[in-house]
Amino acid sequence: MADLDDLREGSDFGLDKEVAGQSFYLKGCDHLDWGLKDRLSRIFRKASGKTVMLAFDHGFLMGPTSGLERIDLNILPLAEHADCLMATRGIIRASVPPTYNKPVCLRSDAGTTILTDMNDNVVIDVQDAVKLNASAMAIMLAIGDPKMEAKTVANLVHTADLGQKYGIPVMGVTAVGKDMARDARYFSLASRVCAENGANIVKTYYCEGFSNVVASCPVPIVIAGGKKLPESEALELAYNAVNEGAAGVDMGRNVFQSDDPVAMIQAVSGVVHDGLTPPQAFEKFEDLKGQ
Ligand code: 5RP
Repeated sequence: MADLDDLREGSDFGLDKEVAGQSFYLKGCDHLDWGLKDRLSRIFRKASGKTVMLAFDHGFLMGPTSGLERIDLNILPLAEHADCLMATRGIIRASVPPTYNKPVCLRSDAGTTILTDMNDNVVIDVQDAVKLNASAMAIMLAIGDPKMEAKTVANLVHTADLGQKYGIPVMGVTAVGKDMARDARYFSLASRVCAENGANIVKTYYCEGFSNVVASCPVPIVIAGGKKLPESEALELAYNAVNEGAAGVDMGRNVFQSDDPVAMIQAVSGVVHDGLTPPQAFEKFEDLKGQ
């Protein structure tokens, strides 16, 4: 147990300084094994060092969410524009043709659709991740949730052990409960706890002071999109996140609930990989809409 009497909040994040002594193009990954680097290189483009992951794992907790009623109709047309697909094994097996050959970030934990007093989250068998040729395994971490924190930390640690053993990167997904804070202090804590416990990628949320969240997390961060926003605002969110150090996005609703999801994912990709500004990306969205 840390000495809680003398915990001082960090203040010097060296925002103007590059991470020292790196040779691999992804932050904090220099000393990973070949298989881990190979899989990370499938997810993050070498040219930009970034990724556009398409998250459509919502159904494992929420059922057929708007925009995810039919994966074949809603998601498959987007796949070619995504760098990586994030979904559960059930959806990957049932609805995504293996001939797509897209890297998969496999949702590797599961919990109940209702919050219970029990710590029921579980993780899938790593052999199934191997069989699905997963490029990463995603595990939720519910920091600050008295019912879920201990179990989700244990899940992450267990999966990180197996990830190291089999060469599969682990993505820690920082949870946001209804009553949980959504500020830089919370996301810095949650992201850092993910990385310290072995996550190779962290998925968190954009917030004010986000550059401190990124700087104090030793591995690449991607952001979730969160609830559906107007397209121009979602593109601005992606722009701000990347500008403040995110290694890309893992977006769901802001893509698949868009008026035109195919146009939207290409506009997001323009921001992430090509440095489009929000107005330029929105223009791209408008140009592609309806095609
Ligand atoms: C939640 C997740 C979701 O995939 C995540 O929230 C991304 O989706 P959205 O952009 O819709 O927020 O990992 O645990």
